[in-house]
Amino acid sequence: MDTTATTMRSDDGATDRRPPPKDLSHHLSRATKARTASSMKAFYKYFMIPGIGQLAGGLPNNYYFPFDTLEAKVARPDRWTPTPNKPVDPPLPSHNDDDSVASRFQKLEFNSTSSPLNQPQDSLIVPHTSSQKNPVQKIDLATALQYGTAQGYPPLYYFLRQFTQQNMHPNCPYRGGPEIILTCGNTDGFSKVLQAFVNEWSEEKDWVRDREHILVEKFAYMNAISAATARGMGVVDVELDDEGMVVEGKGGLKDVLTSWDHKRGKRPHMMYTVTMGQNPTSGVLSLQRRREIYNLCSEYDILIVEDDPYWYLQYPTSTASNTTTTFSSDNTSFNAEQPMFANAEPTPEGWKSSGYPFLDSLVPSFVSVDTDGRVLRLDTFSKTVAPGCRLGWISAQPDMIERILRITETSTQQPSGFVQSIIAELILGPDQHGLAAAETKTLSNNHKDKNGKGPLPTGAGWKADGWVRWLEGLRGNYERRMHKMCSILASNTSIIKTGRRQSLSQQGFEEDEEWSVVETTPVLSFDWPVGGMFVWLRIEFDNHPLYNHYAKANELSRLSRALWILWTTKPYLVLVSPGTIFSPTAVIAKSEGWKFFRLCFAAIDEEALGPVSERLVEGVKAFFRIKDKSVIEGLLEEDDAVVQVRAEREEGMGYMMGPCAL
Ligand SMILES: Cc1ncc(COP(=O)(O)O)c(C=O)c1O
Repeated sequence: MDTTATTMRSDDGATDRRPPPKDLSHHLSRATKARTASSMKAFYKYFMIPGIGQLAGGLPNNYYFPFDTLEAKVARPDRWTPTPNKPVDPPLPSHNDDDSVASRFQKLEFNSTSSPLNQPQDSLIVPHTSSQKNPVQKIDLATALQYGTAQGYPPLYYFLRQFTQQNMHPNCPYRGGPEIILTCGNTDGFSKVLQAFVNEWSEEKDWVRDREHILVEKFAYMNAISAATARGMGVVDVELDDEGMVVEGKGGLKDVLTSWDHKRGKRPHMMYTVTMGQNPTSGVLSLQRRREIYNLCSEYDILIVEDDPYWYLQYPTSTASNTTTTFSSDNTSFNAEQPMFANAEPTPEGWKSSGYPFLDSLVPSFVSVDTDGRVLRLDTFSKTVAPGCRLGWISAQPDMIERILRITETSTQQPSGFVQSIIAELILGPDQHGLAAAETKTLSNNHKDKNGKGPLPTGAGWKADGWVRWLEGLRGNYERRMHKMCSILASNTSIIKTGRRQSLSQQGFEEDEEWSVVETTPVLSFDWPVGGMFVWLRIEFDNHPLYNHYAKANELSRLSRALWILWTTKPYLVLVSPGTIFSPTAVIAKSEGWKFFRLCFAAIDEEALGPVSERLVEGVKAFFRIKDKSVIEGLLEEDDAVVQVRAEREEGMGYMMGPCAL
């Protein structure tokens, strides 16, 4: 362990006085400790030597690849309109008409309902063979479709590495910042992390004392949990609140770690966490809470795997909506002069800027507090470009990345060359020479251009500026969607029953004053998502007329299932994800999971979002009007055969399940 602050040169040439990360190699699995470098991959650097007669590698000849170019029509980075970075716009002078709630909300309206395909677009070309000599600048099919280095396609790897170190995590506390390796998305990234740090365990042949455990949020992204349990890991859930994992109190991280029962096996040495737009609860973990969790993980020597597909989707308007002063001109809670993150947390003093106000406004990653080098962060292009790209990257201290590189060499080798080259051309464009050439040629001639063509009218790539602008626009679109759905939910949290109050008329009130609210029954609640793609909807089942009946029979989950089925029938026709499927243990599913449903506002068509949200709340109201248990039992008789018949008969089901593996 070496924590002495020595001096070295960092990539940007500045003096880097940060201490190096700790040696955490004792966490490695037996299989990963035993891995050696692929001897063939070690030759790759020699392939680059100009004029070398290459008889070593078993490479197919690139002239026999059936693709001569790769061409695409792509968006401009400014296709979508961003939303503001701060929880509220600076308060306008009071009594200003423009300051009305309506006008502030209007800024969040969708700016276009026309097809994205009608928006300006440009052509991009990856050539067969670029004349560029420098492999870090060379983007062509001859190299991208060939076997390559496991860390990733050089131009894309170097761009992402620099973006990660300088723009995403400029405040990483250890020397040099994180190293990266490209993956086929976060599912692949997590699978490799598990291979690297977890020994497989089997009930039949291993001692309980050797069983490894993983800490997860009480409601979690189950695909990841399944990957861990398949290796024999025990799952240990940690209490959640509207931010994310809780440190103090019963079921909080401290409680779980201090009261660990060694009869269960080893105390957890890994945490899997989704801290930005948590799937399914949508919380964003504050920097303050991150520090507290990190300190405990450091004390108990736990690796933190931060799976973060939704970092760019943080919604400052939700921070404002979740407080009592939403959009009020009298709002003094948020100081317009104070630099702050999207969750209204002040930016710490001396905090380094990413160079982009948008990135600076995002709540920072665990990497920003990682003094030991115990964070493995998973990033993906699935939510920023498309899930079918199967492209992402892991960021962690260099020694850990080196071990994951060894795993990659004998598994995926590297992500698809088609994807890596087209994303590289999109962001980087051709090298300088290629850029000049592209400017003077027409598009139809460009396929002859040895150096390809970037997507902009000038033939340049988006570069980091364009990439950040694209992310800002995406955030804007998803924030508008979230806002639309949540506004409908927020206006329908209760059933209000009005009636004639006899007492008033008897007391001599005027006729039109006799109608008065008699009863308000809360039926649903939620926090406005501060990030991500989901609303975590809680149904207030204990206010249902049949609650006591099902509670006595210990069958509340059946009541919940009846609502889920009712939603899928006419006229509601909405499909949502039940909370039970995000419950990492059967105990959580039974005790709490049934109270919740996850709504995804991302995948549904923009025009359908409003009507489907309306149908969802109408379904809830209809459900709360059911007083006869035979109606509930009738719904529960639904089986697969009935669903099949309905699916064939009924069109227009609104899917709010979400785009992803759950
Ligand atoms: C938390 C979380 N992790 C990982 C994924 C999958 O990511 P990828 O497509 O990069 O494998 C998802 C998909 O929705 C997700 O929500």
